[in-house]
Amino acid sequence: MAVALIILAAGKGTRMNSENPKVLHPIAGAPMLVHAMNAGATLDPEHTVIVAGHGADAVTKAATAHDDTAKVVLQTEQLGTGHAVLQAKDSLTGFDGKAIVLYGDTPFVQPETLQAMLDAEADVVVLGFEPADAGRYGRLVMDGTSLERIVEYKDASPIERSLKLCNSGVICAPAPLLFDLLDQTGNDNASGEYYLTDVIGLARRSGHSATVVTCDEAETLGVNSRAELAAADALFQTRKRVELMEDGVTLVAPETVYFALDTIIGRDTLIEPNVVFGPGVTVESGATIRAFSHLEGCHVARGGIIGPYARLRPGTELSEDVRIGNFVEIKNAQIAEGAKVNHLSYIGDAGVGVKSNIGAGTITCNYDGVMKHYTDIGSNVFIGSNTMLVAPVSIGDGAMTGSGSVITSDVESNALALSRAPQVEKPGMARKLFDMLKAKKARQSRGS
Ligand code: UD1
Ligand code: MG
Repeated sequence: MAVALIILAAGKGTRMNSENPKVLHPIAGAPMLVHAMNAGATLDPEHTVIVAGHGADAVTKAATAHDDTAKVVLQTEQLGTGHAVLQAKDSLTGFDGKAIVLYGDTPFVQPETLQAMLDAEADVVVLGFEPADAGRYGRLVMDGTSLERIVEYKDASPIERSLKLCNSGVICAPAPLLFDLLDQTGNDNASGEYYLTDVIGLARRSGHSATVVTCDEAETLGVNSRAELAAADALFQTRKRVELMEDGVTLVAPETVYFALDTIIGRDTLIEPNVVFGPGVTVESGATIRAFSHLEGCHVARGGIIGPYARLRPGTELSEDVRIGNFVEIKNAQIAEGAKVNHLSYIGDAGVGVKSNIGAGTITCNYDGVMKHYTDIGSNVFIGSNTMLVAPVSIGDGAMTGSGSVITSDVESNALALSRAPQVEKPGMARKLFDMLKAKKARQSRGS
């Protein structure tokens, strides 16, 4: 059965107190909207329609950057969840599969739950849950296993408010039926809004069946404030740590390591405490990421040893058995097999060949204030400590640079390049200087 996703993302999110639309606030380095899109994507939808309103341009950009087949439609006025879903109608003309409505601010709905909704035998299927505190959620009015209607908290009687089963907002129905029912909804209710929830009562009255699939409260966790955003991130991190450990990754102190939504870590990799993974990181098997390292947009091949205190920035590509040591920053650079950058260095916009050794304090001077330039270091090169490599520059295979050199032109293979002021030595001069300075200090302390 073909599926269309409709993701509601027009709301302002007033309680976030933000310039940015709520659904773009990140959880584990990805906008919460992307989490919802990923959950829906597991159903292999034929259409993904996102209903945007507040910050629609930014929402469109983020949504299509993640999935360029996603379509964004505009809800210029937020007249209610039912009105929001109706904005997707034109995009789904002629589509007669099932539509699933998700919220962009509800990031953790599980794929199995959505699949269970698709498989349920009823015309309209609602995802329900029993929260610890039912608060102001819409209440599900059941008749056995059949769903009669949903009543919004504001419109509910005291008896209806005492019902424990609540509406998550996720709903599944054949698209033509859903839009047909939505066309019949009005806004004569306590909020003056067009309620998506009204389609249940309308479906039942027109002889259609409706039922409920239930899930844990954690799956329907919605984000409305910064505190809830932090709680959602914490929940994500806890799950990801467990998942990675089950997959054979060692986390010495799991609760101190932070992952992104798309982090991939291979088996038997060891991660020490206090490591942060930004978006776009892949680490192969058998690597070691030592304490206090920060990685984003990079790839670490098998056997790499990173850190402690290393920073790998986007575009970093490390081949097998590379060693990146303390206080080293790497950006947009390819470091070939067995190469080492062990201490206090910046390697940016560069290539480092097989088994080359980059001495402490080396800097690729890649930026001239206007443009970025490339440094090409061959294989088996030895870069002496505190070398400044002023890009664009290339160092041939097997070459060497002397410590403290400022290298401004290309160095050919197997050559030694040196560029530093010649050393001057003045016999006995240090002794003389010390005596002069001590005498001066003694005069000053007598004077005061
Ligand atoms: C909705 C449900 C309620 C359910 C609760 C679960 C309705 C009428 N009520 O209530 O039964 O228990 O969610 O969290 O559906 N949105 C738009 N455009 C709009 C209105 C909302 O895009 O015009 C989006 C919001 O950005 C949000 C989602 O739809 O992502 C839900 O809207 P919200 O106002 O939070 O609905 P609730 O009142 O919480
Ligand atoms: Mg809500």
